Amino acid sequence: MQNIIRQLEEKREGARMGGGQRRIDAQHGKGKLTARERIELLLDEGSFEEWDMFVEHDSQDFGMADQKIPGDGVVIGFGTVNGRLIFVYSQDFTVFGGSLSAAHARKICKITEQAMKVGAPVIGLNDSGGARIQEGVASLAGYADVFQRNVLASGVVPQISMIMGPCAGGAVYSPAMTDFIFMVKDSSYMFVTGPDVVKTVTHEEVTQEQLGGAETHSSVSGVADLAFENDVEALVELRRFIDFLPANNREAPPVRPTEDPADRMEISLDTLIPADTHKPYDMKELIEKIADEGDFFEIAPKYAGNIITGFARMQGATVGIVANQPMVLAGCLDINSSRKAARFVRFCDCFNIPIVTLVDVPGFLPGTAQEYGGIIQHGAKLLYAYAEATVPKVTVITRKAYGGAYDVMASKHLRGDVNYAWPTAEIAVMGPKGAVEIIFRADIGDQKKIDERTEEYRTKFANPFVAGSLGFIDDVIMPHNTRKRVCRALAMLKDKELENPWKKHGNIPL
Ligand code: HXC
Repeated sequence: MQNIIRQLEEKREGARMGGGQRRIDAQHGKGKLTARERIELLLDEGSFEEWDMFVEHDSQDFGMADQKIPGDGVVIGFGTVNGRLIFVYSQDFTVFGGSLSAAHARKICKITEQAMKVGAPVIGLNDSGGARIQEGVASLAGYADVFQRNVLASGVVPQISMIMGPCAGGAVYSPAMTDFIFMVKDSSYMFVTGPDVVKTVTHEEVTQEQLGGAETHSSVSGVADLAFENDVEALVELRRFIDFLPANNREAPPVRPTEDPADRMEISLDTLIPADTHKPYDMKELIEKIADEGDFFEIAPKYAGNIITGFARMQGATVGIVANQPMVLAGCLDINSSRKAARFVRFCDCFNIPIVTLVDVPGFLPGTAQEYGGIIQHGAKLLYAYAEATVPKVTVITRKAYGGAYDVMASKHLRGDVNYAWPTAEIAVMGPKGAVEIIFRADIGDQKKIDERTEEYRTKFANPFVAGSLGFIDDVIMPHNTRKRVCRALAMLKDKELENPWKKHGNIPL
C-alpha cells in the first residue's frame, strides 16, 4: 500500500512537472505561464479537480515509445469561477510543444462531453504546436473528433477559446467553432498557413504577429473578440466575462445583486443628442449610463466599431447590448458590422440572454467595396439573426432609423417586444435631403422650393410620431428615463415564451 501511494505521488509529481524544469523556464522566459499556473489563476482557489493526469500517448514510432509524459500535453478537469461550475482544458507547451496526440484529443473530447451532460461552459486555453507530427493521421483524426464535439456543444453550453501560444493550421478550427476567441498579445498567433508558406506562395513578407497576432485578429480579421496584454490580464478578464454567461441553453442568465436602482434617472442623457443631426455622439455613454453600475463588457471593441456589442446587467440580470455607434462611419451598417452583430445576437439567443438594441443608423454603407463584398448577404445575416431570435428584445431608437436598416435593427416587424423611441428619433425611408432630391427631382435648381420640401419632409418624418401612430413604436420616452423603461420592459418580459416553427435548422445566409 505504502508503495502504491509513493508511486501515485511520484506519478502526480511527474505530471505536474510537465516537460521538465528547463522547458518550464523557457515557457516563463517567453512571458507565458504554464498550463497549470493558468488554470490556478482562472479557477477559484482549490476548486480544480484534474482528470486524466495519468493518460499517456500510445504512439510507438520515432522513438516515442520511450518518451511518455503523464497527461500528454493537456491538463483537463473542472472547477469553479466565482462558485459556478466550469470545465477547462489547458494545453501544456512544455510537453511535446502542446501538440495534439490521439490521447490528448480524447481528453479534450471527454471534458466537452461531460460539460454537455451537466450543462456547464467549456474553456480551452490553447498553446500548441498543432498536430503531433510523430502520430500522423491519428492526430488529424483527433482534431476532427474535437471539431465534432465543438459543433455538438455549440448552442448547448458556452465555449470559449483563449489563445495563449501558437495555434496554426487546421488546429485553428476548434477555436473557430467556439463562441468567443480571446488572444494574448505578442505570445499568441493563429493562422491557417504561416509566414514561410505565405512567402513561398504569394511572395508576401509578413511576420507571425502581423499575419495572425492578437492585434491583427482583434482589429483586422475580426477572428478574435479581444486581445489582452498578458496571461494574467487575460485570465482575470476571462473570470469577469464568465460571470455574465448562463451555464447552458436551458438556464437563465445569472443574476447578481445590485444596489443600482432600476428607476435611476440620467438627466445628462437629455442632452446626449447634438442639435445638429449630422453630428456624432458617443453611444457608449448611453450604454454605460443605463447599465447596472455602468459595467459593460464589450466584445470586439476594435473591430467594426460602427456597431457596439457586449454584455451588461439590468437589475442584476445579463443582457446583450447591440448599438449603432455614430462616431464610426456615422453608425452605418456594413459587411463587418453586420457579421459581428449577427453572431452576437445568435449567441444571446442560444443562451437566453435578452437583447437590448440601441438604434441610430442612417442606413447601409454605400459603395462598390460593400456591394462586391456581398453586403446583401452579410446584412441579411443580421436581419435573419434578429428575426429568428425568440429571447426578449427591447429596442430604443435614439435618433436615425432609416431604410432597411430600420427594419433590421430589432424593429417591431422582426418581433421586437418593446420598441421605444426618444423624441429625437427620425424614422423614415431616408434622410430628408436625400428623399427630396428623389421625389422632387424636378425642383432641383430651385433652392427655395427644395428647402421648403426638405422642411416639409423633415416635419413629417424626422420624429417618432408617424411610426408611433402606426403602433411600430410602443412609446416615446424621455432619454433620462431610458434605464427605468428598459428595466421595466425586461421585467415584464422575464417569462416570455415564443417558439419558432419546427425545422431541422434554418438556412441563415452564411
Ligand atoms: C510534435 C512538437 C510539435 C509538433 C513542437 N514540438 N511542435 N512535437 N509535434 N507539432 C516540440 C518540439 O520538437 C520541441 O520539443 C518542443 O515541442 C518545443 O518546440 P520548439 O520548436 O523548440 O519551440 P518554439 O521555438 O517555441 O516553436 C514553436 C513552434 C514550432 C512554432 C510551434 O515548434 C513548430 O513550428 N512546430 C511545428 C508546427 C507544425 O508544423 N505543426 C503541424 C501543423 S499542421 P523538445 O523536445 O525539443 O522540447 C496541423 C494540422 C492540424 O497542426 C490539422 C487539423 C485538421
